[in-house]
Amino acid sequence: MTDGHLQCRQTEEDLRRLDRTHAVLSRCNRSLARALDERALLNAFCANLVEVGGYGFAWVGYAGERHGAPLRLEGHAGRGDAAFAAAVLAGANGDDRRSACRVACEAGAPVILRDLSIPCALAPWAAAALDQSYRSMIALPLRADQTAPFGNFSIFADTRDAFDVPEVALLAELADDLAFGIQTVRTRDAQAQAVRRLRNDAEREARGHLAATLHDGVGQTMQALNLGLKQARALAEHGETVPVALLDRLIDEAGEALRELRAVSCELRPLFLERLSLLDAIRHQCNETAQRTGINIQVSATDCAFTLDDQVKEQCFLAFREALSNAVRHAAASRIDVLLRVRTNDRLILAISDNGRGFDTHPTGAGPAGLGLCMIQERAVGVHGRSCVRSSPSKGTIVRICVPLTKEPILCL
Ligand SMILES: Nc1ncnc2c1ncn2[C@@H]1O[C@H](COP(=O)(O)OP(=O)(O)O)[C@@H](O)[C@H]1O
Ligand SMILES: [Mg+2]
Repeated sequence: MTDGHLQCRQTEEDLRRLDRTHAVLSRCNRSLARALDERALLNAFCANLVEVGGYGFAWVGYAGERHGAPLRLEGHAGRGDAAFAAAVLAGANGDDRRSACRVACEAGAPVILRDLSIPCALAPWAAAALDQSYRSMIALPLRADQTAPFGNFSIFADTRDAFDVPEVALLAELADDLAFGIQTVRTRDAQAQAVRRLRNDAEREARGHLAATLHDGVGQTMQALNLGLKQARALAEHGETVPVALLDRLIDEAGEALRELRAVSCELRPLFLERLSLLDAIRHQCNETAQRTGINIQVSATDCAFTLDDQVKEQCFLAFREALSNAVRHAAASRIDVLLRVRTNDRLILAISDNGRGFDTHPTGAGPAGLGLCMIQERAVGVHGRSCVRSSPSKGTIVRICVPLTKEPILCL
């Protein structure tokens, strides 16, 4: 075969390899969007390199917090499997700690070993690699933004000199994508944990509120009722007539206890939500609040011929109820306006405004922020919407909740 033919074949082979690496990049992008957790993401990247890219083995190791701490194996795929992964790890954590994986991580630059049959201090696991017929390897640093690398991504190939310049550039891009994906999964997990903590706090607070309401409200009324009944019994025991006024008072107290119990049960689970539309449930709550507090509460609605998913309806109602309760409890307002309307792009807007004392929405104090406002935001986000609060001292407050009426896909990343 002539030199020209050989060169042509080599170019074709190079192009095929680049095509495969491009295919790996696109498959890895899909893995990024679908990753359920960090370990699954690492294993998916490694598997894509082996199954789509045709590489022999891929390996991800994380560096410890402390400089020189042992590397930790976090994901791998390929020929040799766990045994080869363990050999690479043992080599990386061996006495002189000079393996390519560790050096890439510490130097923050790719390390390429073009021919593993040539003895090299950077390949303490070379014998195990040659046993598996691996001939060359690249170790790439994993780093988030401009920070120090937190791990390495190593790839073994069956041919000598498998990593040329364009290939290295693509693989470096892949390592950056992986590092970005890892950070995104971690941020997402941290956010989910914060939301869980918030929910737990809100539940604890709601239980405390409920206990206080039962103790101070229904508890006190029942105590008065109990005393009144004992008084009536003592009179009857001595053959005296129980005064009608006393019986009327007891009836009133029993009625009051019943009303309080109903209010508590309604707060726990607003059953009327199941049979009413969101707008009617809001009107019902506003009427009840206006009667109880004497505040002028106006509800207006435009273009409200829509049906809502039950979950969206419940979350919107609970967010609205918190905003209304804040306006009643904190604002000292004489008027509250509730507006419900649909925007052309299928978004439901719910605005609760009051003419009360307002507050500083960017407090500088170190005190804990209220859970109520956080839960309004969480409830809106939970149904793919958002919320915002505008307020300033003595200028009133407006809480806006905006949620989509149509279901939108949830983005994993
Ligand atoms: N409409 C409002 N008018 C005045 N102050 C408000 C209003 N809404 C909220 N706030 C202020 O924001 C704080 C946090 O509210 P929130 O998160 O609901 O917690 P909480 O109601 O349990 O105090 C309130 O304590 C109050 O100081
Ligand atoms: Mg509140």
